[in-house]
Amino acid sequence: MTTATSEAVKLTERINRIEPSATMAVVAEADKLRSQGVDVVDFGAGEPHFPTPQHIKDAAIAAIQGNFTKYTAVAGTPELRDAIVRRHAADFGSDYRREESIASTGGKHALFNAIQVLVDHGDEVILPVPYWVSFKDIVRYAGGKCVFLESDESQGFRVTAEMVARLITPRTKLIILNSPSNPSGAVMSPADLTEVVRLAHERGIWVISDECYVYLNYTGDIFSVGSLREYKDRLVVVGSLSKTYAMTGWRMGYALGPLPVAAAMAKLQSQSTSNPTSIVQKAAVAALNGPQECVEQMRTEYIQLRDHVVNGLRSIPGVACTLPEGAFYAYPNISSFLGRGSVKSASDIAGRLLREAHVATVPGEGFGTHDHIRVSYATSKTELDRGLERMRKLLAAL
Ligand SMILES: Cc1ncc(COP(=O)(O)O)c(C=O)c1O
Repeated sequence: MTTATSEAVKLTERINRIEPSATMAVVAEADKLRSQGVDVVDFGAGEPHFPTPQHIKDAAIAAIQGNFTKYTAVAGTPELRDAIVRRHAADFGSDYRREESIASTGGKHALFNAIQVLVDHGDEVILPVPYWVSFKDIVRYAGGKCVFLESDESQGFRVTAEMVARLITPRTKLIILNSPSNPSGAVMSPADLTEVVRLAHERGIWVISDECYVYLNYTGDIFSVGSLREYKDRLVVVGSLSKTYAMTGWRMGYALGPLPVAAAMAKLQSQSTSNPTSIVQKAAVAALNGPQECVEQMRTEYIQLRDHVVNGLRSIPGVACTLPEGAFYAYPNISSFLGRGSVKSASDIAGRLLREAHVATVPGEGFGTHDHIRVSYATSKTELDRGLERMRKLLAAL
């Protein structure tokens, strides 16, 4: 028997177009250190530190006990799809119908499906930088070409319609928005979002708005582009229960979009995963239809953690940090350390932080910038203090 090496196995051209997720790579390296007994402070993981609320867990247990354990409709049960559109209508004033919704196995899956049905070979996709790692690779997997839009860090990584307009060509098919943003925590104002969506609509360009962090918006002005009813025919809103209800491991996300797009996404899903897990669908109904105080409680705590970590980071000599207005990431600028000794890149800094200070962060290169590291503050204040102290020491020694 021979062992197949990666060179000997002829994989498809399309799988070779993409890279493994940078965030997953950090998680794996931190896990490895932890398994060797190292005390790692984890600022790498992109997930809430809260447990899933009890009433959601109870609904899943009841689903198992009630034998709700069979296949369901591919796009989700009517009960779940109705819960998705009702929640969205109640919170944002949208008017989607059940048929214009689809439940998928996580927001990432909904996004993957949406991009596969909208982007063809050679299509251009405008992607604001810094971007969430998976956008670029999912677009490439579909055969599309990413056109990167540099945002303005001095204005909190702002993206405006004017900046988008400069990049539009006859091949532009899609613009991907992500507000609040992973990794920068930047929140686009309702006015900027509306202008970008209006421009795209006018030019016949699609918008996918990844709103996985839409409830983790600390500006007091929570907004979904799904409320812009007049532009709906070129718009897909992607949502997720992962962050909103601390349900990352359950894998439940959704999309809202025009009927032909939702139907095409369901067709693709019917030939891959089929329905999201039946039990999780019942839990999702409980999350969406049940009490929403848990969301508010988590949001309030994230704001305190955000302030704590940003103050801590800004107090480290050489570190600059814009104020993130949503999600649970800070994106400090560490460019003043580049060129000191052997430190040449954000990856070098993140590597040394992990291996020498035992603090896991994600280097900015994975998000398209070279001067930053991503710090997830979805953890306790005690952990934040421990990690910040270690960072302070290591950076001072560079
Ligand atoms: C911007 C963004 N979109 C989508 C997702 C996917 O979330 P999930 O697949 O857990 O719903 C994530 C997760 O980190 C994210 O940060």
